[in-house]
Amino acid sequence: MTTDSLDDFFHQYRLRCENQLDQLLPDNTSAPLQQAMRYATLNGGKRIRPMLCYATTELLGNPAEQVDNIASAIELIHAYSLVHDDLPAMDDDALRRGKPTCHIKYGEAQAILAGDALQALAFELIVTPNPHITATKQLCIAKSLCHASGLMGMAGGQSLDLLSEGKAINLETLETIHRKKTGALLEASVILPALAGNADEKTLFQLTKFAQNLGLCFQVRDDILDIIGDTAVIGKTQGADINANKATYPALLGLEAAQTYADDLHKKAISALEDIGKNTNRLREIADFIILRQH
Ligand code: IPE
Ligand code: IPE
Ligand code: MG
Ligand code: MG
Ligand code: MG
Repeated sequence: MTTDSLDDFFHQYRLRCENQLDQLLPDNTSAPLQQAMRYATLNGGKRIRPMLCYATTELLGNPAEQVDNIASAIELIHAYSLVHDDLPAMDDDALRRGKPTCHIKYGEAQAILAGDALQALAFELIVTPNPHITATKQLCIAKSLCHASGLMGMAGGQSLDLLSEGKAINLETLETIHRKKTGALLEASVILPALAGNADEKTLFQLTKFAQNLGLCFQVRDDILDIIGDTAVIGKTQGADINANKATYPALLGLEAAQTYADDLHKKAISALEDIGKNTNRLREIADFIILRQH
């Protein structure tokens, strides 16, 4: 696993992950559900979560094969979360990754089922026997992904997000929402590869600190981009959070203080890497990408 610039790294591992997803969801079918699953998964996307997986595995000196299924499984959960997030009953968005959202293209019923089936496929993948991970470790990894996706993670956070629309919530509650709805899967993108790669206790601790700060930072930046971003660049309708009266960091703190908070979380993430006695450059570069991202 040797690569040069972050661009090269992104290019190489995006292709690797997308090839695997492409094979899991073949195009040669007329089943609308499969087409909807494929559309939701392969219609672009930065693949940040798989990049974190591959970078963590590289940092631990392990082969990419060890983490392929983990990277794709997390991306499948992410794709499912976006399909459901865009539904009329949730954020009611018509644009995702610069294209019509899954329910606009395939109808609500197929979009809901596509999300369900993507989630099931993710868990099928994560428990598929893998010569690079022991069965006991796989169980532990699967449990961890369940936790990050369910009540205590993404789904729980999404519920709180919707319940907070139009309400004056405090900063502590907002932090909980963001850590759950977005942070948990970002954290899993670092922790699952670390578990697979038998990271020692201290490394695991520092990586957890890194990933928790980065996960929250990612959603604060997402909130900011909803305001300062361009629909054509972000690929989502700019201003959607304001229209839906969402609880966001800029809504609570103002734009400038929200960016300062994102910068602070980014710094904390980076400093957590400093105590890991290994080459953490790639994770640092990904963190820099996240704080500077325009989409
Ligand atoms: C968007 O995630 C939803 C959030 C959790 C903020 P990404 O910004 O990673 O979306 P894609 O996959 O690149 O489209
Ligand atoms: C979504 O947060 C988090 C998910 C779990 C999908 P947002 O609702 O802010 O994501 P976008 O802005 O629609 O991508
Ligand atoms: Mg949402
Ligand atoms: Mg949304
Ligand atoms: Mg958003």
